[in-house]
Amino acid sequence: MASFLTPPSVERGLGLDKELLERTARELVAPGRGVLAADESNGTMSNRLQAVGVEPSSEARRAYRANLFATEGYESAVSGVILFDETIRQSMDDGTLIPDALSSRGIHPGIKVDTGAKDLAHHADEKVTEGLDGLRERCTEYFALGARFAKWRAVIRIGDGIPSEACVSANAHALARYAAICQEQGLVPIIEPEVLMEGEHDAQRCFEVTSTTLDATFAECAAQGVHIPGSLLKPNMVIAGKGCETQISRERVAQMTVDCLTQHVPHNLPGIVFLSGGQSDEDATAHLNLMNKMDIEHPWQLSYSYGRALQSEALMKWAGSGDDFDAASQRAFSHRAKMNRLARSGDWSEELEV
Ligand code: G3H
Repeated sequence: MASFLTPPSVERGLGLDKELLERTARELVAPGRGVLAADESNGTMSNRLQAVGVEPSSEARRAYRANLFATEGYESAVSGVILFDETIRQSMDDGTLIPDALSSRGIHPGIKVDTGAKDLAHHADEKVTEGLDGLRERCTEYFALGARFAKWRAVIRIGDGIPSEACVSANAHALARYAAICQEQGLVPIIEPEVLMEGEHDAQRCFEVTSTTLDATFAECAAQGVHIPGSLLKPNMVIAGKGCETQISRERVAQMTVDCLTQHVPHNLPGIVFLSGGQSDEDATAHLNLMNKMDIEHPWQLSYSYGRALQSEALMKWAGSGDDFDAASQRAFSHRAKMNRLARSGDWSEELEV
């Protein structure tokens, strides 16, 4: 007799279109391609605009992003763009809705559906990501607007006595519930349990916390019946904290990251799309390149879903008005997209950065 704790079988899920989910997931991590994370919340994007001297407004956010999305040829490196709720409703300069403009270039529109990391009760310095209330209805609307995948970011901080079990399990549970709802609505969930680089911990501690977090996340996914071949994982790389005196080599980051993923990620997941998390543009590309260059067969595609590492230069160049700034911003973005495309096959090298 089935107990209440029996994980629901995906076969019994409501209208789960496994074929659609698996196809979208495979397309998002097709060889040479990865995801552009342009889903900064209004607050974050406004701060970034302000930091480069641009007065933030809805129109400024639209204009910067519309220029980025109009870049020539970047679809060879970018399979999907994650948008924020404001952006998915905005238009390109010619009036075409942004998701339609992306789709017409063979790029899947995606959508950030969490509502942010909030303080975790009884746990100082720890967060739990919220956004499950009304998620089903929002996903239905986003699918109608053209979205084919989604993102939810959980943040795990390393410090004295943290992360707590409560933080890891609350975030893992929310990630799994989000993923199940997205899949029910035809959206591929990008599952992002980010172990932050902020802190003084060494790479070994990052390895351990990342391992624990991944185990908890995939256990919850199994319990909620998440269809793994129709999902993507967006993890941090295994890296020493920014404040740690002992930083490890790029080769060591690549090796420890692949070891961690091999031990803790289901092999039927189609792809891993790393976050850049505050790494320099070049480090993020170099690490991905080294992982793809390794002389071993990975069970999943190793790709990217970078925000800052694809955009920081482009944003700085855009901080002026007029066509010259627009063109310089597009060139900077195009260059980073091309570098990361090469890193997908281990063909990037430092000389190409000049
Ligand atoms: O959720 C995090 C962003 O989508 C990726 O941003 O590459 O700047 O860490 P990042």
